[in-house]
Amino acid sequence: MPRPLHTLILALVLCVPTVAPAAQAPRDDASVAPLAKPPGAAIASGHALATQAGIDMIRAGGNAFDAAVAVSATLSVVEPISSGIGGGGFFLLHDAKSGRDIFVDARETAPAAATPAAFLDANGELNRDRATNGPWSAGIPGLPAALVHLTEKYGRLPLNTTLAPAIRLAREGFEIYPRLEKGYASRRQVMERYRGTRAVFLADGTPPTAGEILKQPELARTLELIAEKGFDGFYRGETAKKLLAAVKEEGGRWRADELAGYVVKEREPLRFRYRGWDVTTAPPPSSGGVALAQMLQILEGWDLARLDDAHRHHVVVEAMRRAYRDRTIYLGDPDFVKVPVRRLASADYAAGLRATIHPDKATPSALLSGQPAPLEDDETTHFSILDAEGNRVSATQTVNLLYGSGMVAPGTGVLLNNEMDDFALRPGTPNAFGVMGFAANAPEAGKRMLSSMTPSFIESKDRLAAIGAPGGSRIITEVLVGILGYDAGLNAQQVAALSRFHHQWLPDVISAETGAIDPATVAALQAMGHTVNAAEANWGNLQTVSWDKRTGALEGGTDPRNPVGSAEVLNASEQPRR
Ligand code: GLY
Repeated sequence: MPRPLHTLILALVLCVPTVAPAAQAPRDDASVAPLAKPPGAAIASGHALATQAGIDMIRAGGNAFDAAVAVSATLSVVEPISSGIGGGGFFLLHDAKSGRDIFVDARETAPAAATPAAFLDANGELNRDRATNGPWSAGIPGLPAALVHLTEKYGRLPLNTTLAPAIRLAREGFEIYPRLEKGYASRRQVMERYRGTRAVFLADGTPPTAGEILKQPELARTLELIAEKGFDGFYRGETAKKLLAAVKEEGGRWRADELAGYVVKEREPLRFRYRGWDVTTAPPPSSGGVALAQMLQILEGWDLARLDDAHRHHVVVEAMRRAYRDRTIYLGDPDFVKVPVRRLASADYAAGLRATIHPDKATPSALLSGQPAPLEDDETTHFSILDAEGNRVSATQTVNLLYGSGMVAPGTGVLLNNEMDDFALRPGTPNAFGVMGFAANAPEAGKRMLSSMTPSFIESKDRLAAIGAPGGSRIITEVLVGILGYDAGLNAQQVAALSRFHHQWLPDVISAETGAIDPATVAALQAMGHTVNAAEANWGNLQTVSWDKRTGALEGGTDPRNPVGSAEVLNASEQPRR
C-alpha cells in the first residue's frame, strides 16, 4: 500500500504544538466560497521581539509592509549573527491594492576595488581570510535602502514609527540567547581584531554570555539617522563617512559614490505552477527560484503520495541534484550576465531532466556534466507576513556567515557583511562552505553576488502561504520540503517543523537530519546507489504563515529548532478600522 508523503513527516511533527491559533473559529463547511481577504494578520520571524515589533505596527494602523520594516530592522538588532543593516536581503511583496507581486532586490554590490585579483595570494590561491573576514569581504550594504524603499513606496507609517522598536532595543538592549553566545565564540578570534567590534561585544570586558543584556547605542544612533533622513541617513553624510573611514582604516577600499549610488532593484518575480499551486518566488540574482522551479516541475511527473519512502526520497534527491548542477553553471547577476531563466525554469526543460532520472538507480553526480559545488551553512534569517488587507511579505535577509565579516565600523554600530564570499572569487575554488561557481558569478564592480535566498508565496484555490528560510545553499531544499508539506495538507507549524534532507549535486551525498530518513529507507536508497549521511545535526530556521481561504484559518509556523523564534496571529477586530 503506497504511503502518502506526510505519513512519515506527520509522525515527526504531531508532537509539535501549533503556536499560533487560528485568527477566527474555522468555518466548518469547506464547500463555501473562498474568502477574499484574511481575517487578520499573521507574522512569523526568527525572534519574538521582531515578531512583536511587526504586530505593534499592524495595531498602530500599519500594513504588512510597515510591519516588514519593523521586523527587518528589529532582527538586525537582536539577531546580529544572521542579518543586519550592514548586509542585504530580498523582499517578495504582494500589494493587494494593485494585485502586483514585486521582488525587491536589496542584495549587496561589489565595490570596484574587489576584483578577482584582490582575493588571490602570492601563489594565485584564494586568500580565504580576505574573502570572509574584515573589510574586503564586505559588499556595499543593501538593507537600509530596502527599509527606506518599502516605507516610501508601499508603507503607511513613517520610518520614525517603524524603526522605533529597533532603536529602543539597540539603545536599551535585549537579552543574549545561547545561539549568539555560541556563534560569538566560534567567530571570536576574527571579531576581536576590530576595535569597532570590541566596543560593541566586549563593552563590559567579557564576551557576550546568554542571559546578559547587549546594548548597541551607536547602532541606535545610526538607525535614528535613517529614521530622520531616509536613504541619506546611511548612504551619505555622517554614517557614510564613518563607514568609509572604517573600511580604509582596516585596509579596504570603498568609494563614497559606491555608497551614495546604491539602489534597490525591483524585479519581476519568477512564477510557475505546481500541482494546482501558483508559486511566486525569487528570480536571479537568487538561484533559489530557478532551482525551486526545476525541482518542483521535475517532481510533477510523479504522484509523490503514491511512492514508497525510498522511491519518494530517490526522485526528490534526483531533482535536487539536477537543479543544483545548473545553479553552479548558469546563475549570476542578470544585470551582468545572461541567465537563461526562461529555459531553466520551463516545464519542457524540467521534463527533459526528468527523463534522465532512472526509477531505481542514483545518477552519479560525476556523470552530469559541469563542475562541482557543495555546502553553505545556516546563517541568515527569514520572516513571513500576511495582513487583513491581503498584502503579503516573504523576506530573507543576511550578513552571510555568522556575524558577517566580524567587523563593526567604529562609531556606527554597523556590523559589515561578508557577502563577497558568495561570489566565485576564484573560478572553481570552493568558498567557505564549499560552494563554487564560474564566470556567471565572478565579481565585477557593482555586481550582485549569487544568492540562495528563496522568499516565496504559494497559492492554490483554497490556501495561501508565505514561506522562506535561512541555510545557505540548503535554503532552497528547505523551501522545497516546506512546499511539499503544504501540498500534503500540513498546517503552517507542521511545515516549519518538518525534518529536512538535502542534495546539491556535489558532494554527491544525501544529507539528512538525524531521524529524517528511517533506517530501512536509508538502506533502500543505498541499494539504489545513493550515499546517505543520515545523522547530520538539525539545520535551518523556516518561518511561514498561511491562510485557508475557505475555513478562514490564519496560522503562523515558526521553526522549533530556533527557541527564540515566534509566530503570532492578530484578529482584524484587534486592529484599527480602516
Ligand atoms: N549568503 C547566503 C545567500 O545569500 O545565499
